[in-house]
Amino acid sequence: MIKREFLLTYLFSLLLSLLCLTAVFGKRNSTEKAIYRDSSAPIERRVEDLLGRLTLQEKILQLGGNNNWNTPDNRRLGIAGFKMADGPAGVTIGRATCFPSPIALAATWDRDLNYRTAAALGAELRAKGRYVALGPTVNIVRDPRGGRSFESFGEDPYLSSQLGVAYVKGVQSKNVIATVKHFACNNQEDGRKTNNVLVNERTLREIYLPAFKACVQQGKCLSVMTAYNKVGHQYCSENWYLLNTILKDEWGFEGYVVSDWGACHSTVNSILAGLDVEKPKARYFGRPLREAVSRGKVQEKIIDRAVKRVLRAKFLAGVFDKRVKPTPKLVNTIEHQGLALEAARKSIVLLKNEGALLPLDRKKISSIYVGGSNANVAVIGGGGSSLVTPYYSVSALEGIRSAAGGDFQVLFSQARQRRASRGLSSQVRQAVSRADAVIVVVGTNSEIETEGRDRADLYLPRGQDEFVEEIVSINPNTIVVVVSGSAVLMNDWIDKVPAVIQCFFGGQEMGNAIADVLFGVQNPCGKLPITFPRWMKQLPPFTNLYEPPGEGPGYRFYDKYRQVPLFAFGHGLSYTTFDYKNLKIAPGNSTVEMDVTVTVDIHNSGKVAGSEVVQLYISDVRASVERPEKELKGFERVTLEGGETKTVTFTLDESAFAFYDIKAKMFVVEPGVFDILVGSSSSDIRIKGIVSKERGK
Ligand code: BGC
Repeated sequence: MIKREFLLTYLFSLLLSLLCLTAVFGKRNSTEKAIYRDSSAPIERRVEDLLGRLTLQEKILQLGGNNNWNTPDNRRLGIAGFKMADGPAGVTIGRATCFPSPIALAATWDRDLNYRTAAALGAELRAKGRYVALGPTVNIVRDPRGGRSFESFGEDPYLSSQLGVAYVKGVQSKNVIATVKHFACNNQEDGRKTNNVLVNERTLREIYLPAFKACVQQGKCLSVMTAYNKVGHQYCSENWYLLNTILKDEWGFEGYVVSDWGACHSTVNSILAGLDVEKPKARYFGRPLREAVSRGKVQEKIIDRAVKRVLRAKFLAGVFDKRVKPTPKLVNTIEHQGLALEAARKSIVLLKNEGALLPLDRKKISSIYVGGSNANVAVIGGGGSSLVTPYYSVSALEGIRSAAGGDFQVLFSQARQRRASRGLSSQVRQAVSRADAVIVVVGTNSEIETEGRDRADLYLPRGQDEFVEEIVSINPNTIVVVVSGSAVLMNDWIDKVPAVIQCFFGGQEMGNAIADVLFGVQNPCGKLPITFPRWMKQLPPFTNLYEPPGEGPGYRFYDKYRQVPLFAFGHGLSYTTFDYKNLKIAPGNSTVEMDVTVTVDIHNSGKVAGSEVVQLYISDVRASVERPEKELKGFERVTLEGGETKTVTFTLDESAFAFYDIKAKMFVVEPGVFDILVGSSSSDIRIKGIVSKERGK
């Protein structure tokens, strides 16, 4: 009897162990065999395979956040949730390298530098265990008062497209998803969550969408973030025309669409219109989405469509094949610090340099006076979600002091400077008049230029204009350094001051970069990515009603209304000078195809080495619709030793000559003559040629 019981217990335990072993090995085998886990299988097969294993509940969990930066992991199938961080100027979670803000990166007009900066940022993101960068921002600076101007690449669609693409490719080269934002027409911060943008189709297509299109088609970005505002009465997160029609159907976008934080306002309308992921939390895409499916308001295939996009992006970012492991030592490396310095140096724009006051000759200097509200603070970036916390930062004063070494005296007094608006103390007047050079650092900061709020005007903060005027009246060797994220007005003092440099929010190395430019270690080579107006009255009203067809913001507007700005788009001087010669256009002067090659010789006519950004603008001489007087369609940076000449080549295709035809619903090039304008800024065209489009046979 006992024996039988023992035997039964024994058999039962054996069976149980067998079952467990089968379960364990069976599971492992089935996982090992799963196509989605096979890195050599085609991505679409992996996506289909994984989708087939998900329950409806699990699918819906892929589509919404569970906290500010993440979406939930699926442990059963080993699917990592999204791990995000804001990324336009550096990683915003914990401390990280703070690169110059995007407007500063735009001022470099340097695709390769933008690529390398974004790649470094991507590497830091991965090193922090994240793999989704919430950037770049490619909204156009429609008005320099826009609170987030500093976070974008400026006023021109071509410049924004080129740098946006470089950025996306750089970030994604590190197996990080780039999120191009904010789609679309998020050009104003006041009322950003409720604004209803009314933009005509041509302006939308020619000005506000090209950078997004380029990031999708050339950059192959894996994510696009919707804007808070409405476009044409519809919130961007439920805007069928923007998301399904343009982004996904016309442009062939293969990634996923994520809402800006709290920009989703509905369940059924949003998922049907093409929103794939809701952030920060699944308010409309959690239980309400499940209910919508069970009530038959949303078909499961619509859910599948969104989930596939999410999974595809995860596969493409290598999340299944490469573990995203935190590696803190890869953050703020010496290389990244060097890159932050290189970018900051190349972003500085020399606006004015009368009598070649700059660069300062340190051998001839025994004392420098440094003053101004932004002298003793490192204004590394603008306010809001993009603000990075660096390990260190360098103010202009610190940069100048370290450049001085012990070779000359650097005088500074914060206390006296604070009283500047009430007139300078006699001590400051002694110090200023005796100095061999005076450097006044003025500008804005992250409270004045911030997400969520536009500036009412472009005046420097209170007291700063007076401070500059008073200083220059005491010492004519005054150099003004403007640190800001967008344009500021300088009209009160610009004609009295011999030298001005513009330093857009320059990241952690800003102070060293300023010193390097002042003392000629770096020959300035930045160019303005936005127009600087002379007076407030030059700006059109900043409303929701967008420009009429063929007009556009920035230099397009100034050209049309014959306004002369203080500093034109593309302006930037050097410590040397460049000549433009031998413009050649091939093939000949007329073509049907409009595949055009333009070459021009650039000669460094000075003694020191320097870089010039050669800009190419196109003007349609006569068109059936009104077109901007000229539009940027090419730029190349060339570096030349003193006396050296190099040939710069531009390759243009039909798109450079096209406008959006609202009847044909496509970009078209009309037969006729086009001027090809090559120059050093939008208002400094040095050499011209023409090309004609012939009517096709
Ligand atoms: C901003 C986005 C940002 C998000 C997450 C929003 O307020 O508009 O640009 O990515 O917050 O920080």
